[in-house]
Amino acid sequence: MQRNTEVDISGSSFVHVLDQLLEEGLEDIRTARTVDEIEQARIAYLGRKGKVAAHMASLPSLPAEDRPQAGQKANAVKTELTQALQEARDRLEQQAKADEEAGFDPTLPGRTPWIGGVHPITQVQDEICSVFARIGFDVVAGPEVETDFYNFEALNIPQDHPARDMQDTLYISDSIVLRTHTSPLQIRTMRAGMPPLAAVAPGKVYRRDADLTHSPMFHQIEGFLVDTQVSMADLRGTLTYFVHHIFDSQTRVRFRPSFFPFTEPSAEVDISCVICGGSGQTGNEPCRVCKQTGWVEILGCGMIDPAVFTAVGYDPEAYTGFAFGLGVERVAMLKYGIDDLRLFFENDLRFLHQFQGPPRTL
Ligand code: DAH
Repeated sequence: MQRNTEVDISGSSFVHVLDQLLEEGLEDIRTARTVDEIEQARIAYLGRKGKVAAHMASLPSLPAEDRPQAGQKANAVKTELTQALQEARDRLEQQAKADEEAGFDPTLPGRTPWIGGVHPITQVQDEICSVFARIGFDVVAGPEVETDFYNFEALNIPQDHPARDMQDTLYISDSIVLRTHTSPLQIRTMRAGMPPLAAVAPGKVYRRDADLTHSPMFHQIEGFLVDTQVSMADLRGTLTYFVHHIFDSQTRVRFRPSFFPFTEPSAEVDISCVICGGSGQTGNEPCRVCKQTGWVEILGCGMIDPAVFTAVGYDPEAYTGFAFGLGVERVAMLKYGIDDLRLFFENDLRFLHQFQGPPRTL
């Protein structure tokens, strides 16, 4: 007698194998997602050359007394699979009907999610940092929740001093604040090392302020350089380089005397208006950005005050340095001619895509 190689000869293991086959078949039918897949499952299990048929064919090779039970089992498996196939078909049909009623077409390609882009403020921030990195500045970061010491005291802004009123501060507790500027990074960086050092510190800052041109959260970049014999000429040269690389080489730079507690002397820096080219006119209209002056303020700066060096433990007789602080939103608005600060924070995609190119998918 010919022996079927696929099927074990004893009756009980025949039944066992059929149980397994049934389980496999039910699983395949359960996971079938299309009419096609259901049909494939039918052919694989119940087709003329299918798995059940193969087992049926081997029935005669079983011991005679096992055959009736084995035969019954094979028929039961066949019935159960047939039933499962029918149910799967019904299920798909119902689903198709429901999809159609809901206006859903499963044959359409799916929607791939958009991948995000870099926010315009971050783009400008990165660009400014890389302009400074090219001339040897490190890029450093620090906490947004800052102590009174780093945010004020060490920067020569003592408690109860009127200079504190320059910045409307959000307090966490008596001695902990949301940093009002990135200047604390001067202190943190100087305390962590010794001159010569040069760094820019980008990041978020917070003030109790909100209107057309002020947001309670905005971005600053602090820059500073400490060495021996640093002069205001170095400061001016560095800032001119920065302005020429962020705007264009035609942009003029001027210093105006000013006051900051942590610099002496201090200056505010204006650049020739990037909207009207410094003429004060756009066409026949007065330029709205520079209010016809031809100049726009861009940052504050100065020579680091000896009191700051003392606060970080440097010898103020040995070291000199300069510092500057600029608002990233302000630079971005001037660079791209944007007149409403709120656009940066509303996250309207029509605005963001102008900086990020058309939406991209994975
Ligand atoms: N920290 C100042 C502010 O937020 C900006 C500033 C001005 C920073 C002059 C400086 C500087 O380093 O020298 O108003």
